[in-house]
Amino acid sequence: MLEEVALAAGGERWESAREMMITDDRLVLKRPLDMHLHLRDGEMLELVAVESARQFAGAVIMPNLVPPVTTLEMLRAYEARILAACGKWGAGFRPLMTMFFKDYSEAELEAARPYLFAVKLYPHGVTTNSESGIHSVRAAEPVLRRMEALGIPLLVHGETGGFVMDREVEFLPVYEWLATTFPRLRIVMEHITTAAAVAMLDRYENLHATVTPHHLVITLDDVAGGLLQPHLFCKPIAKRPEDRDALLAAALAAHPKLMMGSDSAPHPRHAKESCGCAAGVWSAPVLLPRLAELFERHGALGRLQAFVSDNAVRVHGLEVPDREVVLERKPWVVPARWEGPGGDPCVVPWEAGRELAWRVAGE
Ligand code: DOR
Ligand code: ZN
Repeated sequence: MLEEVALAAGGERWESAREMMITDDRLVLKRPLDMHLHLRDGEMLELVAVESARQFAGAVIMPNLVPPVTTLEMLRAYEARILAACGKWGAGFRPLMTMFFKDYSEAELEAARPYLFAVKLYPHGVTTNSESGIHSVRAAEPVLRRMEALGIPLLVHGETGGFVMDREVEFLPVYEWLATTFPRLRIVMEHITTAAAVAMLDRYENLHATVTPHHLVITLDDVAGGLLQPHLFCKPIAKRPEDRDALLAAALAAHPKLMMGSDSAPHPRHAKESCGCAAGVWSAPVLLPRLAELFERHGALGRLQAFVSDNAVRVHGLEVPDREVVLERKPWVVPARWEGPGGDPCVVPWEAGRELAWRVAGE
């Protein structure tokens, strides 16, 4: 499938079209963005927020707290807690805030709009903290009309309650209905995991997608093909090799409608390494180094800038801190866990114990 081509050796070269500078041992990314991020709240937020803030100029913050973020007051207060948790990195990091889909009035949406990046729609019960998700997409029509009129983007967790491997593909007709019924609504298919979802991108002008780094790398085999790997268990579940290959090909080609959204979703170690494992991969600490390694291995380092920033800036017309993040080629071993004061909370990152070739400079 994808040919592996080594990065051209020697000399400094500018990938001017992509505003990215690559040398043998340095990589400069302009305003990298994580377009799908779970930061939680309280002690977990305090532990994990800095990992995103030091790597990214902004991130789209998921609203599935308990209770979910559904009012402007909750949104503003959560945004303030996030920025406080980012410490010194907060000045260069813009949380792009979302609210959990519900029956919002026009007045509520209008009031929230200056502070709101998007509304996130969850079908009822398909993933972590989605109990107040919708039961019928048709019943959501009036709110979607209001969002379309006000120019508020719709982010969607696109899974049905069907057989776990088929949930995303079964949901694709809903995306088609949304895209054609609301032609001026900007829709993002979140964390896509199938070749069929990649193909949909080219069919509807108002349909976009995020993809996670882990879904570019793993398949169901990595999760459950040998000993069960709870830290790779997430929703949607990783699919077949041909799906992973289609996602990877689209990301490496910097498909203009595809954006990096990590879906980094921390759960305490005891909730992952347990009977009834919580869904979510905590990838935040390794995102840019892991992506640099992947894109380099496939000779596509010059397209990383588009995948982690330019596509999102163009699709959404974003204004984010004009910050550069430097990666340097200095191997490091990903720690086995991150711990808060006194060991609580404790979270295990994606790629724990693995050596990565690139690291974020200045650490
Ligand atoms: O694996 C997941 N974890 N998928 C989601 O959609 C939600 C997330 C979480 O909040 O833990
Ligand atoms: Zn998510």
